Amino acid sequence: MTKDLRVGVAGLGTVGASLVRLIERKSNALTARCGRPVRVSAVSARDRTRDRGVDLSGMAWFDDPVALATSADVDVYVELIGGEDGPAEASVRAALAAGKPVVTANKALLARHGVELAALAEANGTALFYEAAVAGGIPVIKTMREALAGNEISRVYGILNGTCNYILTRMEQEGLDFSDCLADAQRLGYAEADPTFDIEGFDTAHKLAILTSLAFGSRIDSEAIYCEGISSITQADIEAAGELGYRIKLLGVAQRTDSGIEQRVHPTMVPKTSAIARIDGVLNAVAIDGDAVGEVVLVGPGAGGDATASAVLGDIADVARGHAIPTLGMPADTLAPYEAARMRRHEGGYYIRLSVYDRSGAFAEIARIMADEDISLESIVQRDRSRAGDLSEPHSDAPQPVILTTYETTEAAVKRALATIMARNVVAGDPQMIRIEKLR
Ligand code: NDP
Ligand code: HSE
Repeated sequence: MTKDLRVGVAGLGTVGASLVRLIERKSNALTARCGRPVRVSAVSARDRTRDRGVDLSGMAWFDDPVALATSADVDVYVELIGGEDGPAEASVRAALAAGKPVVTANKALLARHGVELAALAEANGTALFYEAAVAGGIPVIKTMREALAGNEISRVYGILNGTCNYILTRMEQEGLDFSDCLADAQRLGYAEADPTFDIEGFDTAHKLAILTSLAFGSRIDSEAIYCEGISSITQADIEAAGELGYRIKLLGVAQRTDSGIEQRVHPTMVPKTSAIARIDGVLNAVAIDGDAVGEVVLVGPGAGGDATASAVLGDIADVARGHAIPTLGMPADTLAPYEAARMRRHEGGYYIRLSVYDRSGAFAEIARIMADEDISLESIVQRDRSRAGDLSEPHSDAPQPVILTTYETTEAAVKRALATIMARNVVAGDPQMIRIEKLR
């Protein structure tokens, strides 16, 4: 039998501690599957005294992850610290520069520096693995990078953030407040260290940027992604969606269009009958349209210690077996420049919620403004104020919640129409606008 694979783990939080436990628990199976023992030989975190519920005896401790990453006693460096810069970036660069394989779950790092890190790995004859960085426990990187190599991919989309899906599911099913659901997601270890990344869509954008590169052979450009989070979603929207036959999900979508690649992250109304509408709680789903295979849909836990450690360990097993694949599926210098399609050219249906002043002619004016932009309305419903979450005392001129849905139109037309409506002083407050996606 060949010699042990010595694993160095930096970061002993939700994922790192779960990984150390999992490697211990699966020791015999790993030896059988990889043809050699796999063991954690060294670790790093900030606080050496913290009880993490894992036995660290027999493992060398490093205060500095860069020293761990370059230690001669470590064969593979596993980065589970997080963050796009700082110690995560420095240690990953140091390991790759030393020719050491790296496994990471850090999507922020890859979205920002992925192409450079891929080139660094190639230049030093080593490999960078990152299965856990997208959709937690779902093996989507392996699927796209290896199993679907024989396909031209036209679209990849899905629910890519466990925290947001958990929040939206509990708000809908239990009528709970946004902030209570977020606090539970944090307690369960699903959320990022700064949960703004989850709820404002940035984490989904980081993951989508990686999938876009794998799908289209393009350089990663997360800055080009249109990004909206879920923090503006209210019970009124969730209830209205239900009545209209939809559920609200935070989707990341990347697709080829005539004007380039469209990358967008936003809350989306999806038909209740669609497969994606049934993905609840911390589950994620990724759908990939390939020309040879058709549509492939992968579903599984998108966050959490054990599920994420499972993906990290799959990568470590690849290292133990001596597998090496170009980081982004092809040599870094052959990746095409990313050509962004403008969001204003996006076409689809829209849900719009307005608070309309109860004055004669207000409805007619809104309908006229929509018609002037060639927007066909599918439905227009005036809702009871209390059902829309407004519990203040009614008065004669109080604004009334009105919900419109449109047939397919362009983003630019909807944005122009809403700007005109706002300027005419017929509505109170900002309009809510949610895109509708007619998925199967
Ligand atoms: P945590 O915040 O739970 O853990 C981070 C760990 O990094 C802590 O153990 C912390 O040490 C350690 N750390 C921070 N700074 C340093 C430093 N300078 N030197 C050494 N160690 C340091 O994060 P998670 O485990 O949740 O996430 C880790 C990575 O995995 C992130 O990139 C995240 O995005 C990604 N990820 C997380 C998932 C999840 O469900 N949680 C799912 C998929 C990916 P200490 O404990 O001493 O403070
Ligand atoms: N915070 C992330 C999520 C972790 O909730 O999906 C998994 O990447």
